[in-house]
Amino acid sequence: MKESIHDYKAIKRVILIFMIIIPSIPFTLVVGIGYFSFTKTIEINAVSNMERIVMDHNNMIQFFLNERKANLEFVLNSFSYEEMIQTKQLQTIFENLQKESNSFIDMGVFNDSGVHMAYHGPYRLSGKNYSNEEWFKQVRKEGCFISDIFLGFRRVPHFIIAVARKDSDKTWVLRATIDSYLFNNLVKSVRIGKTGESYILNAKGVFQTDRRSGGNLMEIDNSFDHLHKSNQNITTFVNKDHSGVSYLYATSWLKDKNWLLVVRQETNDAFKELRKLVYISVLIVIVCGAVIILSAFYISDRIVKKLKKTESEKGHLEEQLIWATRLSEIGEMATGFAHEINNPLQVMKNEQTLTEMIINEMRETGDIKESESLDEILKSLNQINLQISRCSQITQSILNFGRQGNTMPCALDLKDYLPEVIRMIENKATVSGIKISQTIDNDILLIKGNPGELQQVLLNLFNNAIDAIITMLPDGGGQLTIKAENSGAFVSIEVSDNGCGISDENMEKIFSPFFTTKPVGKGTGLGLSVCYGIIKSMGGKMNVSSKIGKGTCFTILLPKEMQS
Ligand SMILES: Nc1ncnc2c1ncn2[C@@H]1O[C@H](COP(=O)(O)OP(=O)(O)OP(=O)(O)O)[C@@H](O)[C@H]1O
Ligand SMILES: [Mg+2]
Repeated sequence: MKESIHDYKAIKRVILIFMIIIPSIPFTLVVGIGYFSFTKTIEINAVSNMERIVMDHNNMIQFFLNERKANLEFVLNSFSYEEMIQTKQLQTIFENLQKESNSFIDMGVFNDSGVHMAYHGPYRLSGKNYSNEEWFKQVRKEGCFISDIFLGFRRVPHFIIAVARKDSDKTWVLRATIDSYLFNNLVKSVRIGKTGESYILNAKGVFQTDRRSGGNLMEIDNSFDHLHKSNQNITTFVNKDHSGVSYLYATSWLKDKNWLLVVRQETNDAFKELRKLVYISVLIVIVCGAVIILSAFYISDRIVKKLKKTESEKGHLEEQLIWATRLSEIGEMATGFAHEINNPLQVMKNEQTLTEMIINEMRETGDIKESESLDEILKSLNQINLQISRCSQITQSILNFGRQGNTMPCALDLKDYLPEVIRMIENKATVSGIKISQTIDNDILLIKGNPGELQQVLLNLFNNAIDAIITMLPDGGGQLTIKAENSGAFVSIEVSDNGCGISDENMEKIFSPFFTTKPVGKGTGLGLSVCYGIIKSMGGKMNVSSKIGKGTCFTILLPKEMQS
């Protein structure tokens, strides 16, 4: 028994391992491949989104600068130097330009020697000489110049756009200061997620616009070394800045000015979809894993329970079979004993008859006188005779039981046959306080059947009824009723009792071989299944109705004998 418990544990372990490992392999593959391809897609999307933003922003800033340059070139080509150095005229032109775009702070005209000839704006810059300023030299040489942010005479960070025009041998210059507040806002206007920001650095890594997350105008950006390496149109990469925060960068050089536009977003923010995906994947793995493991436990438990049940049923069946075999051996032995006892019984009967005869002769001849003792002897002889007859009746019944199994089917008159079988259980019933009542129709027709087999059927029904009554009424009060009558083309035998009855659940099983509610050694559970087989082979039917706690009624319908 102990060994078998260990076996079940091993079986359960193997089932569990297989049920967990086998579905886990495709599941892990699906989740792994799904996770890999989704992360790749999310990464690619985030990066290309940044690329698109930096490109759009670059175009917009470039457009702004080109527009301002075009404004100044238009003025330069539309008015003469003489007209432009008149402060009134300069003011009118400035105000007209501001109507189109409010992006200029001031405007000034410079002569060939770099002297500020006319100025319109909030500072006092007229008359100052700019011939040594780098921007002045550049604009004279190139014809157009956009400066980096610088302090200049006014000591305030700003940047200028200057254009030059050559009239005969003299070159004059028109210069305007761009509203750095407006430009700053224009560059910073990018909004991506919570942490997205954009700013401009010059070729030396100096801030040309300030940075939301820290970085003031004209300061040097420490991370510039990483940024400006590539000459590509747009570069994207992930890098940690000096504060240790990781950013997804997209950078792009402006076309007409040596400025680097930087757009960046914290990696956590840029790839937050990725984090969501990780959470979802972990959740899927936990939920599906739990489902796989729980169902594996549940199914393996059920399989092992079924195995245990089958094994215990097998053990039970084996016990029943052994009991059935033993019963059949006892049956054979009983027939043998009955046969052996029958002979001495006959001798005893003969001796008793002879003794009685001799005593009667002696009484007639007067050899024995009438007395009370003689009466006692005669009574005793009579009792011996009675008991010998009873014994021989019992042995005859046993012999009949054994012999009739081999008898051939014949016409049976139930009027004679039934009382004979009932007599066999009469004693058992009386001992248990059970009353037997039998009603056999006088006109009952003959049936065709095998007497031995029919006896087996009836005895099993009677014994079942007696057992059910003893269970229900152990102190007596039982009633076993046997009724036989014609019923259409059949003859019916009804065996009813007021015993414990049969539950609905058991009702479906009572005709199954080896089904019994009796303890091992008391019943094999073969009785009704054999009865059913016998009645069917006789061309008959067997029905049952029962009410739990009230009683049971078995009805056998047997075809009548044709010749009758
Ligand atoms: N008259 C009845 N009243 C209540 N239960 C019955 C009755 N007849 C049969 N049963 C139920 O049907 C079961 C099967 O009966 P069956 O005659 O096939 O086997 P058994 O009587 O248990 O064993 P065996 O016939 O080998 O002694 C019984 O164990 C009992 O539970
Ligand atoms: Mg039985």
